[in-house]
Amino acid sequence: MSVSALKMSRLLIMSGFYFMSSPGSGSAGGKPNLDVEKKVDSLLNQMSLDEKIGQMTQVNKLSIDKNPQHIKELYIGSILSGGGESPRPNTPQSWADMTRAYQQQATETRLGIPLIYGVDAVHGHGNVYGAVVFPHNIGLGASRDPELIAKIAKITSKEVAATGIHWNFSPAVSVARNLRWGRTYEGYSENTELVRALSKGYTSGLLSFTTEKGSRVLGTAKHFVGDGGTVWGSSHNSQFKIDQGDTPLSEQDLRTIHLPPYKDLIEEGIQSVMVSYSSWNQEFMHRHGYLIQDVLKGELGFDGLVVSDWLGVFWQDGENDAIKIENSINAGIDMVMAVDRYADFISILKNLVLTGRVPMSRIDDAVRRILRVKYRVGLFSDPYYTSGFTEEVGSAAHRKVAREAISKSAVLLKNNNAVPFSGKNRRLLVAGKGANNMGLQCGGWTINWQGGDGDITPGDTLLNAMQVSIPNGWTINHLAEGQKEIDGTDLYDYGVVVAAEDPYAEGFGDKLQPQLKDEDLALLAQVKARSKKTILIIYSGRPVEIKNADSLADAIIAAWLPGTEGLGLSDLLLGFKPFTGKLPYTWPKSFANYEGYPVSQDNTLFPFGHGIQTQ
Ligand code: GLC
Repeated sequence: MSVSALKMSRLLIMSGFYFMSSPGSGSAGGKPNLDVEKKVDSLLNQMSLDEKIGQMTQVNKLSIDKNPQHIKELYIGSILSGGGESPRPNTPQSWADMTRAYQQQATETRLGIPLIYGVDAVHGHGNVYGAVVFPHNIGLGASRDPELIAKIAKITSKEVAATGIHWNFSPAVSVARNLRWGRTYEGYSENTELVRALSKGYTSGLLSFTTEKGSRVLGTAKHFVGDGGTVWGSSHNSQFKIDQGDTPLSEQDLRTIHLPPYKDLIEEGIQSVMVSYSSWNQEFMHRHGYLIQDVLKGELGFDGLVVSDWLGVFWQDGENDAIKIENSINAGIDMVMAVDRYADFISILKNLVLTGRVPMSRIDDAVRRILRVKYRVGLFSDPYYTSGFTEEVGSAAHRKVAREAISKSAVLLKNNNAVPFSGKNRRLLVAGKGANNMGLQCGGWTINWQGGDGDITPGDTLLNAMQVSIPNGWTINHLAEGQKEIDGTDLYDYGVVVAAEDPYAEGFGDKLQPQLKDEDLALLAQVKARSKKTILIIYSGRPVEIKNADSLADAIIAAWLPGTEGLGLSDLLLGFKPFTGKLPYTWPKSFANYEGYPVSQDNTLFPFGHGIQTQ
């Protein structure tokens, strides 16, 4: 989609209209390129069964590092870094060195087919120390700005490619319908049309980046399909409650609510789709032949590659691994994220082919798709990607866009003349664990899979940002974590409390009653007693019960999981930027009688689209 189309979509979105995708708006990726098809055919005809199955196998870094010779010996087609699987030291250069070493092995195989390296750069290249970390998708949903999201996707692709990585398992196009889900923040919204518009923005930005040699980062629409529609208590994973659960919907509703973003992104030219751990009406997505083969590949015409989720083939219910693998491959999965089970996967699949349970035609279709995508992104002509712009990772220019993104993603829920701050020689008090904690400010999928606590990566916390931004004559007092009493006795003009969720990813964030912590509410009361105006800033991956905060705070700001550039928040508090964010999810009063979307009128605290706009 061109930038002018993005501008138009932003105007429509900001005016509350969400445009339908224009039919046939496909790009290069969606049309067969005869030259590529000829190369794929020629290569496929030379390949042994072992080489074909190797291409269908994706191994994680920690596993392949135990037997690096397997890259060559087993013709491994792809390696990934799971969340937090970083080289040591965790620097952009050592990432580039690591991926180069793996690729060197792959290109020394008989046919020299390059491997494709994947990572979850879901809010910037979050695994890499020093990369810029953008707001998670829930915040970008509040921005309503596909043009901004396109810029973010392009920067993310540049930082990913700069570390020699070719594949980003992003964007998640989840239409998240239950705020108890630990992956709500990975979705842009509860609203399908908003998810469509912003996912298209991301994809156009991702596809607009090319390396010096014209190569592209492979994007992934995930998790196919209906991952955001699961119900509480239905998880197939005993560790979780709703993540990896069941989506009980009619086909009509599945098609109306969850399928449209895939149709859009296929038209945009997305080249990979990741299958969801979840099930639809109790049928596992990882073996759903109708939805993968007939709908995604047939009806929607998807000719890229379908990848499983992490061990998703093995984690289904079922008699044994052979039957699970047989069902998944025959259902249309092309590449298996086999992780530490890769040797089993390879030997089981080979036996399934030799015994006719998986036809060679299915193997050839899978490998054809994998080779096609590798040609299309430019991997054969440019297997290393870095082309020397590692120093751009975390650059000031990239951080400037993240700062803008934070300003546009925060939502002003309540304001009794508290923000923006004004006047001379003001006295500020800043409190709350989240006020000076990069880990809480970034959330999950940052440096580590589950995120972290404290100074996990460079950037500006809210406190840092306020300290460098306040006008001359103003003072800031920071009530540090663990410090019980506020110094002195006089009154502050503005008391700011940051209440933060502890970081989490995936099902570890599944929660029956997401709510502000009692200690944060007690701190809010303490700060209120010493402030003329009290401002509550919430760092969370979803709307949470605010309990009595409404009676304590003069202003309430949903900042979501904003990322490394805290200046984006101080810009708002000090009036350098206006509040423009709008809720991408309905904000309930309570989770006591909450059953997911839609939230009943009498349980709605702030409706979808709410957000006080300032000048
Ligand atoms: C995870 C997630 C998926 C991610 C993959 C690789 O379990 O479900 O979103 O891309 O594994 O990290």
